[in-house]
Amino acid sequence: MDKKRILVTGGTGYIGSHTTVELINAGYSVVIIDNLSNSNIEVLDGIEAITGVRPDFVEGDCRDIETLRRLFADYPDVVGIINFAASKAVGESVEKPLLYYRNNINTLVNLLDLMPENKVKGIVFSSSCTVYGEPDENPVTEQSPIKPATSPYGNTKQICEEIIRDVIAAGAPFSAIILRYFNPVGAHPSALIGELPNGVPQNLVPYLTQTAIGIRKQLSVFGDDYDTPDGSCIRDFIDVVDLARAHVQAVARMVEGRNLNPVETFNLGTGRGVSVLELINTFEQATGVKVPYVIASRRAGDIVKVWADPTYANTVLGWKATTPLADTMAAAWKWQKALAEKK
Ligand code: UD1
Repeated sequence: MDKKRILVTGGTGYIGSHTTVELINAGYSVVIIDNLSNSNIEVLDGIEAITGVRPDFVEGDCRDIETLRRLFADYPDVVGIINFAASKAVGESVEKPLLYYRNNINTLVNLLDLMPENKVKGIVFSSSCTVYGEPDENPVTEQSPIKPATSPYGNTKQICEEIIRDVIAAGAPFSAIILRYFNPVGAHPSALIGELPNGVPQNLVPYLTQTAIGIRKQLSVFGDDYDTPDGSCIRDFIDVVDLARAHVQAVARMVEGRNLNPVETFNLGTGRGVSVLELINTFEQATGVKVPYVIASRRAGDIVKVWADPTYANTVLGWKATTPLADTMAAAWKWQKALAEKK
């Protein structure tokens, strides 16, 4: 039987590349479209080294509907889409809101527009726990209230979720699964793919590993006077390979018509809240490497504590995060060392 083909937009990016590996391992064929704005063509070598298969690759921009039309003409067998193509830096989105609205929203609209005529059965959309803002209660379920967005980036996630619900409500002949990621971290255990932050990392784990290897002098812990057990913020750090596996489950569900509703939403987290200081400690224990850090002032806009109730994904999607945080930290470190060797 021919392999089913999945279109992965943003497939050379951090989560996209790990998902492509899991799709190939699960027996799918993949075509990636990516404009390489925040990734590198060499990621394809990493995917090939892990899986033995080089995914088809189209260099192009999903904001341009004609590029997507040509892609569907060349790949008429696409049965499902996983849409990772988006800009994701919170701070940058405040400075360049139109870049975020144009990129994140037009990409989704173009894909939804072209799905019916190309008989695509389903789309998986990358959303974020940012839609819950500062939750009234933890853990958060999919029914927890959506809070007003605090950045254009967060707003694009809310708007895109609404666009999907509106289009399905209007009778679109396809399904959608919205995945709300908590804090994706780590790298493939092979250290052949991982996160490639542009410039100075804004997120905790890449900053931590760059500090551990000596690229940065010290890590700043943004606040130790929050209302949490050790005073630092609490997040739900989810291993990127675990996260990638959830996408395979999600797209398979729609392609095989096993979804219960035309739009389904799942939280993707571990269910465990871990503080910033605990994470640093876990990294040190797992790797034996000390991370120089200082306590700095709070970062504007930070959520104090958020972690997932992943029960719905566990029971309905049949997915569970299984990688211990120490293993995730070891993988992040192995990847950082592999990057250093490449230079
Ligand atoms: C943010 C976004 C989230 C997005 C994610 C990845 C919000 C509310 N959250 O998550 O939607 O998916 O980025 O782009 O918009 N920290 C330090 N020192 C550092 C860096 C971070 O102490 O050098 C702390 C932060 O204060 C925070 C925690 O580490 O408490 C996690 O920060 P980060 O990795 O940036 O992720 P979020 O802000 O949770």
